[in-house]
Amino acid sequence: MNEQKRTAIVTGGTSGIGLEVTRMLARQGNRVFIGARTQDKVDETAKELQNEGLDVAGSSCDVRSGTDIQRFVGEAVDRFGEIDVLVNNAGRSGGGVTADIADELWFDVINTNLNSVFLMSREVLNTGGMRRKNWGRIINIASTAGKQGVVLGAPYSASKHGVVGLTKALGNELAPTGITVNAVCPGYVETPMAERVRQGYAAAYDKSEEDILEKFQAKIPLGRYSTPGEVAGLVGYLVSDTASSITSQALNVCGGLGNF
Ligand SMILES: NC(=O)c1ccc[n+]([C@@H]2O[C@H](COP(=O)([O-])OP(=O)(O)OC[C@H]3O[C@@H](n4cnc5c(N)ncnc54)[C@H](OP(=O)(O)O)[C@@H]3O)[C@@H](O)[C@H]2O)c1
Repeated sequence: MNEQKRTAIVTGGTSGIGLEVTRMLARQGNRVFIGARTQDKVDETAKELQNEGLDVAGSSCDVRSGTDIQRFVGEAVDRFGEIDVLVNNAGRSGGGVTADIADELWFDVINTNLNSVFLMSREVLNTGGMRRKNWGRIINIASTAGKQGVVLGAPYSASKHGVVGLTKALGNELAPTGITVNAVCPGYVETPMAERVRQGYAAAYDKSEEDILEKFQAKIPLGRYSTPGEVAGLVGYLVSDTASSITSQALNVCGGLGNF
């Protein structure tokens, strides 16, 4: 789809949506540098994708840490050259009865999901060289929870609303430069995180995980969870040259769950 081979960073590239986004970008012919907290998992994922003939490498990076981010982006540039595409995908779930939420949980969700997007984007614009180019793509994996409140999910919803706000502001700021900034907002997507979320609600409502799955599926007009590949498909389009005029948007991939 792209006219030339580009260098991309994908955070949280070892699982679920990030893994499929990595595969999609690499299959388009791009070089992809992935990060996640678990070095072994990064190595294993890079090897698996290299065995598929894809140009993927990576190193450990906890997106809550500015020091990790600085090192990681430097390593990406050393390995593959300056960064053209950044996919801020790493994230965590988290919530509960708001009045009972501990400081640690609140701050960790905001650090992981929102502050990371600012820190990583700034580093890629500077050390990654993106602000010196006349073409770039920043894609933030937000959520439909970034557009509507999710019961028992206040920190998660707040963090994802923040990601949507940051996307719109940075997108407008960078629009004249040829760098687009967009948020992709998945609804329910079948990944290891989705499984953990169902377990959390099953415990909170004293129901089985199957009951929770049924309840969630009933809310989705399509009647099923989206797949990581379906989310990756939109990312694949947003990095194309055809998508040059799409910026500052928050686009849903949600089987009709969100009508906004
Ligand atoms: N699944 C859904 O239904 C859904 C819906 C809407 C939005 N999303 C969003 O989509 C993104 C990906 O979710 P997923 O469902 O694919 O989750 P997942 O399967 O749990 O994968 C999360 C990835 O992020 C990494 N990660 C987690 N915390 C990190 C940290 N502090 N620093 C660096 N990497 C970290 C994980 O690796 P390590 O644990 O090894 O670090 C893993 O590679 C998240 O931002 C999530 O909020 C998911």
